[in-house]
This record gives sequence, structure tokens and C-alpha cells, in this order.
Amino acid sequence: MSSIKHPTLLQHLLFFFFLLVLGLSELATGQQDQFVYSGFADTNLTLDGVATITPDGLLELTNGTFRLRGHAFHPTPFYFGKTPNGTAVQAPRSFAVSYVFAIYCVQAQTCGHGMASVVAASSNFSDTMPTQYLGLINDHNNGDPANRFFAVELDTNWNDEFKDINNNNVGIDINDLVSVNSSSAGYYDDSNEGNFQNLTLASYEMMQVWVEYDGGRRQISVSLAPINMAKPTKPLLSTSYNLSTVLPDMVYVGFSASTGSFDSRQYVLGWSFGINRPAPAIDITKLPKLPKPPRQGPKPRSKVLEIVLPIVSAAFVLAVGATVILLVRRRLRYAELREDWETEFGPHRFSYKDLFHATKGFKNKNLLGFGGFGKVYKGVLPKSKMKIAVKRISHDSKQGMKEFGANSSCATSFLGIGWNETLFDRMARQRHF
Ligand SMILES: *[C@@H]1O[C@H](CO)[C@@H](O)[C@H](O)[C@H]1NC(C)=O
Ligand SMILES: *[C@@H]1O[C@H](CO)[C@@H](O)[C@H](O)[C@H]1NC(C)=O
Ligand SMILES: *[C@@H]1O[C@H](CO)[C@@H](O)[C@H](O)[C@H]1NC(C)=O
Ligand SMILES: *[C@@H]1O[C@H](CO)[C@@H](O)[C@H](O)[C@H]1NC(C)=O
Ligand SMILES: *[C@@H]1O[C@H](CO)[C@@H](O)[C@H](O)[C@H]1NC(C)=O
Ligand SMILES: *[C@@H]1O[C@H](CO)[C@@H](O)[C@H](O)[C@H]1NC(C)=O
Ligand SMILES: *[C@@H]1O[C@H](CO)[C@@H](O)[C@H](O)[C@H]1NC(C)=O
Repeated sequence: MSSIKHPTLLQHLLFFFFLLVLGLSELATGQQDQFVYSGFADTNLTLDGVATITPDGLLELTNGTFRLRGHAFHPTPFYFGKTPNGTAVQAPRSFAVSYVFAIYCVQAQTCGHGMASVVAASSNFSDTMPTQYLGLINDHNNGDPANRFFAVELDTNWNDEFKDINNNNVGIDINDLVSVNSSSAGYYDDSNEGNFQNLTLASYEMMQVWVEYDGGRRQISVSLAPINMAKPTKPLLSTSYNLSTVLPDMVYVGFSASTGSFDSRQYVLGWSFGINRPAPAIDITKLPKLPKPPRQGPKPRSKVLEIVLPIVSAAFVLAVGATVILLVRRRLRYAELREDWETEFGPHRFSYKDLFHATKGFKNKNLLGFGGFGKVYKGVLPKSKMKIAVKRISHDSKQGMKEFGANSSCATSFLGIGWNETLFDRMARQRHF
């Protein structure tokens, strides 16, 4: 690593010589040895499954529909170590991939299933399955040497079949979805003494991945970091593997992704590749914009409504309850009982409510005295301002009723002079109040 940081003059010369040879080979064969995309508008990627380029220039690998796959490949293959005359040389075959991605899931914990960057012998992944197979294999060819792919998976679903370590991991997969090496997503932070920092893949945050294969040292290394951060010095994952035993002279580079039973969408915003040279830097200022997170089900209510609505409903329920109680109380308080004797004697009837108000609620202040089995109150009728006297007899007082019945002539005379006299006796009954 230190030799890369402080290259010697010899290394500089070797590097220029390397570039010269590459340049000549490119001139002679017309072969591209790198590409870089910041957004994918007007590109010719080979798309398959649900993968699309959005109008904004995003590569959308899956679209939120369950159990589907998406593939996207660079339209032309790449050749390792071709000579000017087109024959392959037994040179160390190296390459580097870099990309910026974002994964949307309704919840990071329930997300399906993941995406992978792929370098493979073929771009035909039609005989594969979605869900845990990531669109890379099917249910009977895992580990088959005929698969001929090298992939780095960003796995957002915990799957026992492929011995996943968790539902948020990065893994190196060679013909097999049981990773050669894997790690919980994160990075070794150069600005914090190289301490490990967790990252959540399905956070819908933009992150960058670097995948490098050094054929001379048979070394694979994978790094991940938040956007705007340089490639961490210490890779997240590394492993020793001779990929020349897996990949042919000609390789296709691309992506694969799949969904399961949860809404998830995988986006690639920028992508670069270099064969036998580093991946060109992606200009992150030119990346397309991510869409607003798609929503599932009813729109969540605004915070204001969330707080105000329960209070308003509670107040409404209380108000209705209080009104009902008041009305019931009022009804009970002024409840009337029409007795048989009233129809016989009563040319006129005063409501209990009027009498109640006339005597100011049968206040002691209005008490005139005690009549037979009842108190007598003075009062003023609310409308006519007529002065009256009211005898109050408990409804349950059988004796009071009897007495009243016995003095019915008295009652008659009272009732008879009712309109002109200031004193008037009235049976008023109350229930509970
Ligand atoms: C895409 O392909 C078309 C037709 O093959 C070609 O005309 C165009 O230049 C290509 N665009 C790019 C960006 O490669
Ligand atoms: C995703 O793509 C599939 C196949 O093209 C389509 O049937 C489905 O409706 C799409 N889903 C969304 C949410 O657009
Ligand atoms: C191709 O070129 C390489 C060196 O660049 C040389 O060793 C090889 O013999 C050549 N092969 C043919 C068939 O000309
Ligand atoms: C892809 O491979 C399948 C067999 O796995 C084959 O049937 C199909 O024709 C191939 N597609 C292309 C475009 O080559
Ligand atoms: C990082 O994630 C791992 C795995 O989920 C967990 O065990 C660890 O506690 C986390 N570390 C921090 C600092 O959050
Ligand atoms: C996995 O990667 C880590 C980090 O680079 C490394 O320390 C470890 O040795 C690797 N394990 C294997 C089995 O390659
Ligand atoms: C990698 O494997 C290829 C093919 O088997 C072999 O020719 C080459 O020497 C190996 N490379 C290293 C560095 O071991």
C-alpha cells in the first residue's frame, strides 16, 4: 500500500510504459479498456427483466414489484490482456469496478433481496431466479463451475440457505451465493483511526462501492463508503482467489438484482470500470437525482394532524358527552308526572321547570312554611311575573297524596281562583334532584 502512496521514479516509468502499451493495444484492436457513467441517460446498456433507465437517468434494477429480477450489462464485452494482433497473453488479468448505488426498502429490516455487481463469461442470465437467488443462479445450479461469474453482493435479506451472516451484508460470490468472504455493511473510517462504522445498505442513502482484482497477486478487495468519501484505505473485504480459473478471456460487466416479498428498489447512479487499470473516478456532482421515496399504503398523516386530531376528537367526544349528561340532568330535573287527579281538576298546569325557576330552585330563602306533608315556597312565575305559593310534596309520599285527595275541594278552590289569585298551590314532584 505504501508503494502506491509514494511511487518511486521506476514505478512512474513502468506506469507510463504500461499506459503506452495499453494505448497501442487500444489503437490496434479498437478495444475499450474502461468506461465511466455519471447517470445513464442516452446510454446503450443491455437491460433485462424489470431493469430500466428512468427519465432522470437512473439505472433502476428493480421496480418494487415482488419476486422479479433485473439485469443491466455494458453493451460490449471486455478482453483481458489482448495483444495488438488479437491473441490472448498469459498476463496478469486485473480489473476494477466502482459504482454509486441507493437501495430503497419500506423498512431496512424487511427488505428483499439485494443487488450485485457482476463480471461474468456471459451477459445472458435468463436462466436464473429472483428472490434469494439474486437473478444470478437458479434453484439447482448454485456453485456450478459452469456459472462462470464473479459477483459482489449487497445483500439486504438474511437467507440461511446461503449462510448469510445478517440482512445487511456485503459478500464476495464466485459461482456460488455462499460468499467466499462477507462482512456486515460498513467501512474502516480513515478520519477516525480506522475504526469500523456501520452502514445500512437499504437506507436509501447514496453509497459508493469499489471492487478491485489484482491478477498478479490474485487479490480481490471490496470497499464501501458513504457518498462524498474517498475509498477507505483498509478494504471492507478481501480474499485471495485466482479469477483466471473462473473467467474467460472475454468478460461482460454489469449488475443483477432481485426482489422477494417486500417492496424494494435498487438504483445505480454512477458506474465506472477499468480493465488492467483503475476504475475512472465517477463525477458525483453529475449524478442524477434519486426520486422521493415511493410510498406504500395510505400516506402518513402530517405531524400537526397527528397531534391535533386526537385532541380535537377527544374534545369533541367530551363535549358531546357533557351535552348529553346536561340534557339528561335537565330532563330528570324538570321531569313531570301527570297524575289522574290533574285531568280531573286541572284547568291549568304549570310545568315543574317554571315552578322550579319561580321558587329559585326551592331555595330555603323562599320557604313560607310547612303545609300538610310538604313545604310551601313563595315564588314569582317567570313569564307572567305572577306571585305564587308552591307546596312541594314528595312523589313517594303516599300520605301527602292522600291528604291532597281528601282536600280535593280545597284543591278545586285553589285551582278555580288560579288565574286571579296570587297564591296558588300546586303539587310538584321531583325524582332524584
Ligand atoms: C447507442 O447505440 C446506437 C445504435 O447502436 C448508437 O448510434 C449510439 O451512438 C450509441 N450510444 C452510445 C452512447 O453508445
Ligand atoms: C414493474 O415491472 C413489471 C414488469 O414490467 C410490471 O408488471 C410492474 O407493474 C412494474 N411495477 C411497478 C410498481 O411499476
Ligand atoms: C502476437 O503478438 C505477440 C506480442 O505482442 C507475439 O508474442 C505473438 O507471437 C503474436 N502472435 C501472432 C499469431 O502473431
Ligand atoms: C440465453 O440462454 C438461454 C439458455 O440458458 C437461451 O435459451 C437463450 O436463447 C439465450 N438468450 C440469448 C439472447 O442468447
Ligand atoms: C454494527 O453492526 C453490527 C452487526 O449488526 C453490530 O453487531 C454492531 O454492534 C454495530 N456496531 C455499532 C457501533 O453500531
Ligand atoms: C475477509 O476480509 C477481511 C477484511 O479484508 C480479512 O481480514 C479476512 O482475512 C478475509 N477472510 C477471508 C476468509 O478471506
Ligand atoms: C491463475 O490461473 C491461471 C489458469 O489456471 C494460471 O494460468 C495462472 O498462472 C494463475 N495465476 C496465478 C497468479 O497463480
